[in-house]
Amino acid sequence: MGCQPRQDPPRPRSPHFRLAHLFVLLVGLLRMSSGVAQVSKSVKEKVSLPCGYNYSVEELNILRIYWQKDKEMVLSFISGDKEVWPQYKNRTLLDVTDNFRLMILPLFLSDRGTYTCVVQKKERGSYVRKHLTSVELSVRADFPVPNITQFGKPSADIKRIMCLASGGFPEPRLTWLEDGKELSGINTTISQDPESELYTVSSKLDFNMTYNHSIVCQVSYGDSQVSKNFTWEKPPEAPPDRNHQVMIYIITVPVALFAFFMVYRYFRRRSKARRKGNNGIYLGPAEASTGQNV
Ligand SMILES: *[C@@H]1O[C@H](CO)[C@@H](O)[C@H](O)[C@H]1NC(C)=O
Ligand SMILES: *[C@@H]1O[C@H](CO)[C@@H](O)[C@H](O)[C@H]1NC(C)=O
Ligand SMILES: *[C@@H]1O[C@H](CO)[C@@H](O)[C@H](O)[C@H]1NC(C)=O
Ligand SMILES: *[C@@H]1O[C@H](CO)[C@@H](O)[C@H](O)[C@H]1NC(C)=O
Ligand SMILES: *[C@@H]1O[C@H](CO)[C@@H](O)[C@H](O)[C@H]1NC(C)=O
Ligand SMILES: *[C@@H]1O[C@H](CO)[C@@H](O)[C@H](O)[C@H]1NC(C)=O
Ligand SMILES: *[C@@H]1O[C@H](CO)[C@@H](O)[C@H](O)[C@H]1NC(C)=O
Repeated sequence: MGCQPRQDPPRPRSPHFRLAHLFVLLVGLLRMSSGVAQVSKSVKEKVSLPCGYNYSVEELNILRIYWQKDKEMVLSFISGDKEVWPQYKNRTLLDVTDNFRLMILPLFLSDRGTYTCVVQKKERGSYVRKHLTSVELSVRADFPVPNITQFGKPSADIKRIMCLASGGFPEPRLTWLEDGKELSGINTTISQDPESELYTVSSKLDFNMTYNHSIVCQVSYGDSQVSKNFTWEKPPEAPPDRNHQVMIYIITVPVALFAFFMVYRYFRRRSKARRKGNNGIYLGPAEASTGQNV
């Protein structure tokens, strides 16, 4: 029935011809989309892959179920006995009640690939394939927003900061930007955890702290990127800092006290001298006794 337009070609009229082409294209598209199912998950998440084979309980003893990834074994279920291959131990579940659905938790980056469920059934002494389904699993690992931390002062006017992002895939590239221009980082390092395959990237940057900055640390990976802004405001100069004020007190207070004392002594002496002057004779050191008489 679906082939009708293709039987038309005897009549070389272009509208029909076009229709036929469109039909072929449509069939192609349908075939493509009904091909291998696609599932995309993030690292550490759980994935649930359907096998979708309907069976009756009596059948269970004469069935063999194989889950495999690319060319490696994941799990087998033969006459009710389950076996899990080492890479999938302790994180794999076969839901027999849900038509042999496979669940993996947590997902590793290395779990990406095409999973195939094969069901064989014993018929007249030998096993016959009854069912096959494939699911393509892609595993993402997104970098979190990078962290920028202050990393000391290599010299008087210079401040050092560090940008770090960890736990992403594929291999990242870290760039420092200011006003759209790329700055050169110090000791930019990229490392990969051999077990999880996840990357860590870090870089340091020195900047002159005597003026304002608006710096961006950008981490690009695959067709994604994450970035973090860092702003630096030049510290104000106008109000002198505490130490300065303390120094001023330390210097000015004794000077003022000393000056006050000198002035006081000068006036005291002068008033005494005046009093003695009134008595007529200056008696020198014995002045104290004269003072007592007054
Ligand atoms: C399994 O059974 C369900 C209903 O019970 C049906 O919709 C589905 O098409 C069956 N699947 C297969 C592969 O036979
Ligand atoms: C799985 O768990 C068991 C018990 O918790 C442990 O003995 C075994 O080493 C684990 N296997 C793997 C591959 O992690
Ligand atoms: C980023 O900084 C936050 C808060 O300072 C901290 O909790 C987190 O662990 C840091 N992340 C990394 C990758 O260092
Ligand atoms: C860069 O790293 C190397 C090795 O760890 C170290 O010797 C060097 O001092 C670092 N340079 C800076 C500017 O931190
Ligand atoms: C920092 O900037 C100030 C003002 O532009 C300049 O005088 C000083 O030399 C700079 N310091 C360094 C280490 O580049
Ligand atoms: C970070 O800085 C860039 C450029 O300086 C700016 O376009 C962007 O909006 C800033 N992002 C945030 C979150 O402040
Ligand atoms: C630096 O930033 C501060 C706060 O945003 C602002 O008040 C000051 O004028 C800026 N200085 C310069 C030189 O742009």
